[in-house]
Amino acid sequence: MASREQFSSKTGFIMAAAGSAIGLGNIWGFPTQTASNGGAAFVLVYFILAFCLAYPALMAELIIGRHARANVFTALRGIATGPFTRFLGGFVGGYGVLVASLILSFYAIVAGWMLAYLGEAIARLLGMDQLAGWLISFGFERNMLLMGLFMMLTMAIIAKGIEGGIEKWSTRLMPMLLIILIALIGYVLTQSGAQEGLRVYLLPDLSQVRPVLILDAMGQAFFSLSLGVGTMLVYGSYLDEKESLPKLGAAVTLVDAGIAFIAGLLIIPAIYVAKEHGATIFNDSGELIAGPDLIFQVLPALFNSMGEVGVLVALAFFVLMSIASLTSSISMLEVPVSFATEETKASRKQATLIIGLLIFCVSSLILSYFEQLFSLVIDLTTVYSQPLLGLLLCVFVGWIWHRDNLLQELSKGHPTISETWFWKIWPSYVKIFCPILILATFVQGVIG
Ligand code: PFF
Repeated sequence: MASREQFSSKTGFIMAAAGSAIGLGNIWGFPTQTASNGGAAFVLVYFILAFCLAYPALMAELIIGRHARANVFTALRGIATGPFTRFLGGFVGGYGVLVASLILSFYAIVAGWMLAYLGEAIARLLGMDQLAGWLISFGFERNMLLMGLFMMLTMAIIAKGIEGGIEKWSTRLMPMLLIILIALIGYVLTQSGAQEGLRVYLLPDLSQVRPVLILDAMGQAFFSLSLGVGTMLVYGSYLDEKESLPKLGAAVTLVDAGIAFIAGLLIIPAIYVAKEHGATIFNDSGELIAGPDLIFQVLPALFNSMGEVGVLVALAFFVLMSIASLTSSISMLEVPVSFATEETKASRKQATLIIGLLIFCVSSLILSYFEQLFSLVIDLTTVYSQPLLGLLLCVFVGWIWHRDNLLQELSKGHPTISETWFWKIWPSYVKIFCPILILATFVQGVIG
């Protein structure tokens, strides 16, 4: 059997895992949720949940993955201790593969819109106004074409494997993302209106802290760290034994939360700059426009009002969004592809092609019944399934796997782990507190 591929270095892993984590969830989801949920109050709740709930759950995935050196389905069945837990492992793993694929099916649609707006900026620069107009019309053909294009990019990277595909492209794209993000913040903060946006973003309004806010923040934290569906588990399975998992996990959590926070310094001030330029930024019920209208109407209106430079700003912004989407979508596709290559005789290229086409069909179905399916799929996967799957993974690590095995796995790359705070706290934490906290937040949020 050919030896299993792995990341060539620690940096390669961090780039890939941060690339998965940093996506539309950080640059769009986090800032807008913050602005509509009481500003800094949401930031605070989010950071607490990211470190107290999402980080321990991320560790559970990384540990199982590196130990099993397999996809989520095979890995969970592998650490089972009897027929029932083997069945449960297969169920949770299979559910994870399904949810990862479904997340990609809507993510590719949204990412296709980003490519469309990127194409529009280029078309305008070239004076192709008719094409530019078509690219920003919300038509079925346009949606299909750009979703398909985005799926092809994702598949092209995944077909190349771990080092030559995921690692290579994450390492190229992530620094670009950071540079564009900082350059855009530098520009937007010099515009009038930006200060008001900063105030809304950074000053807490505690009256807004409601149970549903906590559910939102938890969903956001799980989505942002790509948890529950086996992405981090499979990335962990490509990690060398000499690396310390708690340190790498902490680095990824920190970078993810940090970029989400920094993205807020771009998006919220930009909304208020748009207001200064005459754009409507509140809906009829007085709430900030946060959904697709924000990215595809409010911000483009702002770019248009900036004159010549506006086209370049739009270009940079949609390149940023497209990069963020692509480094995340590859991690989603890797979940079913790793499952297929390890559980069947299919080669990576065959598996990528077949699964990519299947997901393309599901995305087409969503586009055909957009009103009925789009939000439904998002809610079912991200709001409900991801936290529940995260909970089940914690149960696996805390209750089903032997503590000795955990220690053994963690000691690789971190020989003194048994003397650290991490080892004193984390095992019982992931066993008891995480499941209870996830469940309580979930139930409270759903009922509330
Ligand atoms: N973390 C990504 C984001 O914040 O946009 C989304 C994501 C990636 C979710 C991978 C799930 C996943 F498996």
